[in-house]
Amino acid sequence: MYILGLNSYHGDSSACIVADGKLIAAVEEERFTRIKHWAGLPVRAISYCLKEAGIEIEAIDHIAVNRDPKANFLKKALFAFSKRPSLQLVSDRLKNAGKVKDIKTLISSEFRVQSTSLKAPVHNIEHHVAHMGSSFFVSPFEEAAAVSVDGFGDFVGSMWGLGRGNKIEVRHRTFFPYSLGLFYLALTQYLGFSNYGDEYKVMGLAAYGEGKFLDEMGQIVKIAQKADFELDLDFFIHHADGVSMTWENGEPKMGPVFSKKLEELLGPARKKGEEITQRHKNIASSMQKRYEDVFFHILNAVYNETKLPYLTLAGGCAMNSLANGKIFQKTPFKEVYIQPAAGDAGGAVGAAYYVWNQILGNSRNFVLEKPYLGPEFRNDEIKKVLDDHADRLNKEACRVEYIEDKERLCHLTAGHISEGRVVGWFQGRMEWGPRALGNRSIVCDPRRTDMQNIMNLKIKRRESFRPFAPSIHVDAVGEYFETSYPDPFMLKVYKIKPDKRSIIPAVTHFDGTGRLQTVSENNNELYWMLIDEFRKITGVPVLLNTSFNENEPIVCHPEEALDCFLRTKMDVLVLGNFMIERDDINETG
Ligand SMILES: [Fe+2]
Repeated sequence: MYILGLNSYHGDSSACIVADGKLIAAVEEERFTRIKHWAGLPVRAISYCLKEAGIEIEAIDHIAVNRDPKANFLKKALFAFSKRPSLQLVSDRLKNAGKVKDIKTLISSEFRVQSTSLKAPVHNIEHHVAHMGSSFFVSPFEEAAAVSVDGFGDFVGSMWGLGRGNKIEVRHRTFFPYSLGLFYLALTQYLGFSNYGDEYKVMGLAAYGEGKFLDEMGQIVKIAQKADFELDLDFFIHHADGVSMTWENGEPKMGPVFSKKLEELLGPARKKGEEITQRHKNIASSMQKRYEDVFFHILNAVYNETKLPYLTLAGGCAMNSLANGKIFQKTPFKEVYIQPAAGDAGGAVGAAYYVWNQILGNSRNFVLEKPYLGPEFRNDEIKKVLDDHADRLNKEACRVEYIEDKERLCHLTAGHISEGRVVGWFQGRMEWGPRALGNRSIVCDPRRTDMQNIMNLKIKRRESFRPFAPSIHVDAVGEYFETSYPDPFMLKVYKIKPDKRSIIPAVTHFDGTGRLQTVSENNNELYWMLIDEFRKITGVPVLLNTSFNENEPIVCHPEEALDCFLRTKMDVLVLGNFMIERDDINETG
């Protein structure tokens, strides 16, 4: 049985396919359209999933969408009646809901088949239910507290429930206009980061500030009873004027959500491009702190209600790796599972598994342990790309060598890294979720204090306050970090042991922390081997790992990787078994 899961007409549109309960493919549409966070109908992601399953669209048995325009209808109607939102807001939402409802017609027209030949029924799964399902149903836990925290979806800002076997029972919804994600978004916008998905930048900035605005943050978001919280709506406009949102065939765009009163409280908002001052850093730090206070209030209340030691987390806020790294300190939970695409993209997986497990009643038979669910390319396909671009490679004086032996490939690559070179590492299936985890990564030496600058100069040109992350052998975590808890998906920040910070300065953030990815032989054998070869040369089982891209979505196809290599000053590119080196390599690094 094939279930097609979709997150469509929403940021990070994506598709996945579940075959007899196994997740065999999952990918975000942005990787194909090459526009970050692309929103719309994920036609190319669907095509890829079908190809991976070896079927045509007509063979799909069920379509699952992570939105249900009918969910919480009464609440919506009551809100519309009492608050009388603007006509524009109502009409925008209705149009978007219409697209979600009409998904079968839209798919059949895109795939040029009669809609009658699509036998699959469409299941609309409430947004946060799909979020909770996206983690719980693919987690290793038989029973767990399931929590979803995000902006808004189907009129809800956060939700928690009880996952047991093949069912999730919803226990609580926090309704519009309250949302912790919206609080984070408002302050992110206030700090001058206005692109969709910029919240993670503010999280990086928070390390440089102090909690000097904690009182003010306490006025903006208030802790309420049980697993609840409230926003002081005077600081926001989303509930009154609405927020302009564009979810169709392009980069999602969101208008401002904060009011003038927020500027009265905190001072004038930072304009995009303006200098970042200590005041901005203090606001970022205070906001992150307040976010954590409320987040842990929710988790502790959920623990008190469930008394379960296992937690599964999802929703955009589950990408807040600073907060995630403190879960064991601040709550009684003993185990936590977050899937790699915890944000809206992951809703495709949650919706599909909700159908497989909860609606169809199948027992759970899959744990999402590896994030490598996207496209892969054979060496002969890579060779064709290299042949097609032979002129450009010649012009840039690049040498190409085919290295059959994997151990030699890893040994030579590790040698380049240990000599300070920046290496593009493109292997196997692309990662599902926003983190590059060793298959579409740029890797370099974490021991060099100047590596961050080199990376920024050669490739990334990103804000200097944003940290780079470490990939570490799983059995060395306890030696380097103040935890030994594995995290193969790079979703938690932990303190690096004080005596190790000077050994890996390039991946040690300003506050002595690092957002680690643990790598095991079982999880990614080749990447593990690469780190092992680096360890043999240097004694350090750690690499600096950043996503393979340059202000664009992570590269998917070898041609995009080659393009990125040629237009930046990357020193070495390893594409499958091909190693491409610049001729002037000895002058670099
Ligand atoms: Fe969401």
